[in-house]
Amino acid sequence: MSKKAIGFMDSGVGGLTVAKLAIQELQNENIAYLGDEARLPYGEKSKEEIQQYSLQIANFLIKKEDIKMLVIACNTATSYALSYLQDNLLIPVIGVVNPGSIAAVNNTKTNRVGLIATNGTVKSGAYEKEIKKINNDVEVFSQGCPRFVPMVENQEFKDSKTQIVVDNDLSTINKDDVDTLILGCTHFPIMRDLIQKSVGDNVKLIDPGHETVKQIKKILQDNHIENNEVSKPTYSFYTTGNPDNFNKVANEWLNFEVHAKHLSIKELEEL
Ligand code: DGL
Repeated sequence: MSKKAIGFMDSGVGGLTVAKLAIQELQNENIAYLGDEARLPYGEKSKEEIQQYSLQIANFLIKKEDIKMLVIACNTATSYALSYLQDNLLIPVIGVVNPGSIAAVNNTKTNRVGLIATNGTVKSGAYEKEIKKINNDVEVFSQGCPRFVPMVENQEFKDSKTQIVVDNDLSTINKDDVDTLILGCTHFPIMRDLIQKSVGDNVKLIDPGHETVKQIKKILQDNHIENNEVSKPTYSFYTTGNPDNFNKVANEWLNFEVHAKHLSIKELEEL
């Protein structure tokens, strides 16, 4: 039993898609979230940069919020820094790529799975590796969609013009005849409707967040660190970017008032 918070990290608001599911499913758990908007997009950064940023964020959440486990709620950071953080931290660390892969393999009937993600995640081959480990017969068709993350961060995801961009960027994957499509970037569930409209109702969209929350639950149980005490949980949010922008997306997505605190990169670097 532990009342400590679960830490969530992402380059921006994307990780809120995982945090939201955790808030719904793990109702006693306290949550501490950090979005590194000042250094977004992670999808265009090097492995070394992503590892360094991820470790800084983890150290901040451990020192300031005393988190009991870390969820890398970012596919790009999971692809490049999951094992690095697991090797360097004393708390359990989980990512989203293994959960997303399990969910996709469980769903596909045709063994043709699509992946849309950042260029970094696609280039890393992390999903392909993970999926092949689970079922070598599954073929993975990947597409980098670097224009989607800024559209979510800038709240342009409801714009009708956005559908044109989505249709255009998914035109290749739409020819690959997949029956399952992984939303391999945590920002993408926020624009899920646009993506579903583009790929059609016959393609099942996989949000790795659901399976991730199942794995979080199991880690909490296996390590005997669940919070069994029924009381109102606390949620704290930090952003290295503009808190007003963060709060706008967060309030709407989470359906409650979020007051994110600003954190400078200098503070993160000095830890
Ligand atoms: N949300 C992040 C992901 O899941 C990445 C966004 C970015 O490029 O910073 O990959």
